Amino acid sequence: MAQLWGGRFTKETDQLVYNFNASISFDKKFYKQDMQGSMAHARMLAKQGILTEEELERILEGIQGILADVENGKLEISDRYEDIHSFVEANLIERIGDPGKKLHTGRSRNDQVALDMKLYVREEVQAADALVRELLEVLLRLMEEHTGTVMPGFTHLQKAQPITLAHHLGAYFEMFRRDRERLSDLYDRMNDCPLGAGALAGTTYPLDREYTAELLGFRGPTRNSMDSVSDRDYLIELLSALSTIMMHLSRFSEEIIIWNTNEYQFVEMDDAYSTGSSIMPQKKNPDIAELVRGKTGRVYGALVSLLTTMKGLPLAYNKDMQEDKELTFDAIDTVKGCLALFRGMLDTMKFNGQKMADSARNGFTNATDAADYLVNHGVPFRDAHGIIGRLVLFCIERGKAIEELSMEELKGISPVFEKDLYEAVSLKTCVDKRETLGAPGEKAMEREIALSREWLEAHPAI
Ligand code: ARG
Repeated sequence: MAQLWGGRFTKETDQLVYNFNASISFDKKFYKQDMQGSMAHARMLAKQGILTEEELERILEGIQGILADVENGKLEISDRYEDIHSFVEANLIERIGDPGKKLHTGRSRNDQVALDMKLYVREEVQAADALVRELLEVLLRLMEEHTGTVMPGFTHLQKAQPITLAHHLGAYFEMFRRDRERLSDLYDRMNDCPLGAGALAGTTYPLDREYTAELLGFRGPTRNSMDSVSDRDYLIELLSALSTIMMHLSRFSEEIIIWNTNEYQFVEMDDAYSTGSSIMPQKKNPDIAELVRGKTGRVYGALVSLLTTMKGLPLAYNKDMQEDKELTFDAIDTVKGCLALFRGMLDTMKFNGQKMADSARNGFTNATDAADYLVNHGVPFRDAHGIIGRLVLFCIERGKAIEELSMEELKGISPVFEKDLYEAVSLKTCVDKRETLGAPGEKAMEREIALSREWLEAHPAI
């Protein structure tokens, strides 16, 4: 046990208590950020005359040495220390002696951990954003390639109206675009520096909080010191944004799993992104999509868990807050992994345009267009709806599509039908005529693709 306190205690901490309390097994993840924060704090202390220039030099050298040794494997972050803060401080004192004991002047582990977590998360938000952006790039490429690939659009998982693959993928483009906006919003909102808030009530030393905020690349310092050490809103916002990303990936995965079935055969997964069965030789399973769908639950779990942890906490810092780490790390790592794999899966997937078009042709997806035909010939829409309903029933009884009926059969349902109906209900017309903003028609899609490209170029990174 190596701990930072003890003066007030007459007994050693019980080993089980120590283990229960310790966080080093997971907060070692931000060792770099902890040292980065300490160096900025030391620089500020020297600027304010609280440390001498010589003490500062030794502290900076000492920390850089620890960092280098950790990174090249010479120094192990061992579980003998309670947390990463104790590890760094103890090692610093061991290396440089007395100046190391001055590093924690005007600082508490409460503002220190608030800072470390923010520094760590800030980078991870950028990394997650970059991965969503890569996914958007793949989506846009596929959209460009498939403006003419007709497929059925569904509601209630029942064939509804014909659309194109570009249009379908364009819906996901919008979802992931909003995800990037959410990440960018929360990045801006969280980008204030809590260092200098102390344990909860600031400090009597003349700290320059603006200076440390600037050194660490923040917009500025946080305001209220009690809020500074106990705010975990940004993590809740992040977990919410990550949950939404997972929800989108999971919906997409579900569709891919359906499209990949023998019944649909809309897509074929690349061998590199599929798995086989140990017993059934014919199998090629969409495990990646299933795992992405499956992992969504644990990211939601992290969000609900942290919301629940925070809901009863009085001001300011409480040890409960230590629970924010493992679940946030796990959620971030899970989402990053899922995004990268999903992108690879999508990028290598083959789309079967023929199957998609056949499917669109076989499910009366042109029934609305047949009704619109009647409306264009003066039949009120409600009456047209009824006539086409009878027409569909007529077709089902004969096992035919609308366009396969003879003129005579059509006239039997409504005298308004003429030869030009065939053209009006052809798949190509059904899609191409849908030119309203945001619709699947080729021209509308080309506009959408151009806007999407523009947006991507205007938003290269957070
Ligand atoms: N391990 C703690 C956490 O993650 C660091 C802050 C400890 N502060 C304290 N007063 N015990 O929240």
